[in-house]
Amino acid sequence: MKTIFSGIQPSGTITLGNYIGALKQFVELQREYNCYFCIVDQHAITVPQEKQVLRQNIRSLAALYLAVGIDPEKATLFIQSEVPAHAQAGWMLQCVAYIGELERMTQFKDKSAGKEAVSAGLLTYPPLMAADILLYNTDLVPVGEDQKQHLELTRDLAERFNKKYNDIFTVPEVSIPEVGARIMSLQDPLKKMSKSDPNQKAFISLLDPPKTIEKKIKSAVTDSEGIVVYDKENKPGISNLLTIYSIFTNQAVSEIVKQYDGKGYGEFKLDLAKVLIETIEPIQNKYHDLMESNLLDEILDRGAEKANYTANKTLKKMEKAMGLGRKR
Ligand code: TYM
Repeated sequence: MKTIFSGIQPSGTITLGNYIGALKQFVELQREYNCYFCIVDQHAITVPQEKQVLRQNIRSLAALYLAVGIDPEKATLFIQSEVPAHAQAGWMLQCVAYIGELERMTQFKDKSAGKEAVSAGLLTYPPLMAADILLYNTDLVPVGEDQKQHLELTRDLAERFNKKYNDIFTVPEVSIPEVGARIMSLQDPLKKMSKSDPNQKAFISLLDPPKTIEKKIKSAVTDSEGIVVYDKENKPGISNLLTIYSIFTNQAVSEIVKQYDGKGYGEFKLDLAKVLIETIEPIQNKYHDLMESNLLDEILDRGAEKANYTANKTLKKMEKAMGLGRKR
């Protein structure tokens, strides 16, 4: 059975973008693959976090993974900082990576632009991400489009390590969904929807109450034409909403466009809000049950144990290949 690894940062409540680009794929893939899904809390501290908020977000993300349909009998769900091999392997891969290639990462450039105090971790984050993936002999990494460059670097680092030290890493493939790989902000459809956007109206969080979802969809930026058609270049706002509608109803965009022929944005938006709430409300109910049960901790303990076992095996091979410690 082939192996999948993917992670999500607990840097806020996950958005519709994370759900469409990542989580939804995870639920589908867990039937056919040996899956590791991680709450990457060590990645989250590359930018300042409030400790109580981070703690809460970690638990909340774990509950959301389960509420959307991750089955702990099929997949291993765990917290990155509870598997020390990630940071250890991350350090070794930092020593394999070049500063130049890390400085070229667009996400580093975006997150550091105009800031005075940029943590060193923000620059060295991709080798930690590579460690996350490579420790599990991962074949496939399902992610949204914004992670593509990090995945290319992961492949480069794996190949470089294999060539220079010992051939121990599987070089992973990336899986990006055909539709919905980049869900855009509701307030600026030229920008990616992001959980750390300071404008709350720009994203829908999976924990937004139904009324809030409706309000956010109603106030989503479109254009003054009022015609429901897909044209990403000239009508990015309505095109983004059409993509979301299509994913949540499993209908082709062309069909939806036909359905709204002669109707305005108001009616379309109201229906979209309904469709979203129909899927999100049951997820929220499951989420609240999980947050109140002991099951969550049991699942995370079991996940950490399993992940530690696999990750440590690869870590030992890496140390041996690089000549760290004593020969035993
Ligand atoms: P993060 O936490 O920013 O996002 C989690 C996942 O959601 C996807 N995503 C989106 N997809 C579509 N439209 C959007 N607007 C959107 N926003 C986010 C992301 O592509 C991602 O798949 N570095 C990663 C976390 C990570 C990781 C890993 C991922 C750490 N180690 C190993 C895979 C494998 C990140 O910051 O994702």
